[in-house]
Amino acid sequence: MINLKKQKFLIIGAGNMGYAVLNSLIENKISSKKILIIEKKITPKLKKLKSKHNLKIVKNVRLLKYKFVPSISLISVKPNQLNAAVDSSLEKFLSNSLIVSIVAGKKISDLKKIFTLNKGIVRAMTNTPASVNMGTTLICFDKIIKSDQKKIVRNFLSLLGQINETKNEKVIDDFTAIFGSGPAYIFLFIETLIKIADKSGFKNSKNMVLQTFLGSLLLLFNEKDSPTHLKNSVTSKGGTTEAALKILENKNGLSTLISKAIDKAKKRSRELSKAN
Ligand SMILES: NC(=O)c1ccc[n+]([C@@H]2O[C@H](COP(=O)([O-])OP(=O)(O)OC[C@H]3O[C@@H](n4cnc5c(N)ncnc54)[C@H](OP(=O)(O)O)[C@@H]3O)[C@@H](O)[C@H]2O)c1
Repeated sequence: MINLKKQKFLIIGAGNMGYAVLNSLIENKISSKKILIIEKKITPKLKKLKSKHNLKIVKNVRLLKYKFVPSISLISVKPNQLNAAVDSSLEKFLSNSLIVSIVAGKKISDLKKIFTLNKGIVRAMTNTPASVNMGTTLICFDKIIKSDQKKIVRNFLSLLGQINETKNEKVIDDFTAIFGSGPAYIFLFIETLIKIADKSGFKNSKNMVLQTFLGSLLLLFNEKDSPTHLKNSVTSKGGTTEAALKILENKNGLSTLISKAIDKAKKRSRELSKAN
């Protein structure tokens, strides 16, 4: 954290993800004087945070009335908004900053074409639990990034939860399909269980399902056993779990469906990267 207190942060686009990062910076006691936000639209929750912490938000860097030299800049606009967001004044403003882009599908080579004056580009992908500091993030550093800069970026992105690294940028498409979309798969499973429990007449289905999930996760964390081991330990021969698993694990069952779904998402991620 010592590293981060010395940095000056610029956030370009404080929507879902940018706001999550901003909130984490504030929660981690980074002074608002060290944060600048460029955002077109000030949502009520951003407005609330701005007035509570006296944050500086501008619509465009040209409107900035004081000197601010960002050392680390997060690009968190939608892929189709990126080109419009970066004009020559912003490019110049960022020329000495590390750039961390979480823009889906934008490769380091694409970003280098946009930020021509800048040398330090980092591409990362995360997921929505980042908004509760429980994100899973994958980082890919441009080869020229130095080790002290990497430390700063690791500290910065750790604010969102767990960090992981890859040297192979292509893996980001797989990450997006498995972990970026992952929360949606889990929400679908939870939603399905709630509907089934509702049909059985339970009055507290949502809490019961959430407790079952949370309890199972805690078992996995505490006992450090594999999911396969824990699954087998609740499956007795000829019992109810075994009867259900026979359906879920047959060749058209859940495992096959999840693999098929993720393959489709990987393919889509590659298509979107090319189209961007
Ligand atoms: N949500 C996720 O789970 C997730 C996970 C990983 C990565 N990402 C990536 O993170 C990026 C942001 O996603 P998000 O869900 O946070 O999107 P979002 O909620 O739409 O946030 C983007 C924000 O940037 C603003 N903006 C657009 N153009 C701007 C400009 N020229 N200058 C300043 N602000 C500008 C947008 O304003 P307007 O609404 O007025 O356009 C919006 O408030 C995307 O590239 C996405 O691919 C998202």
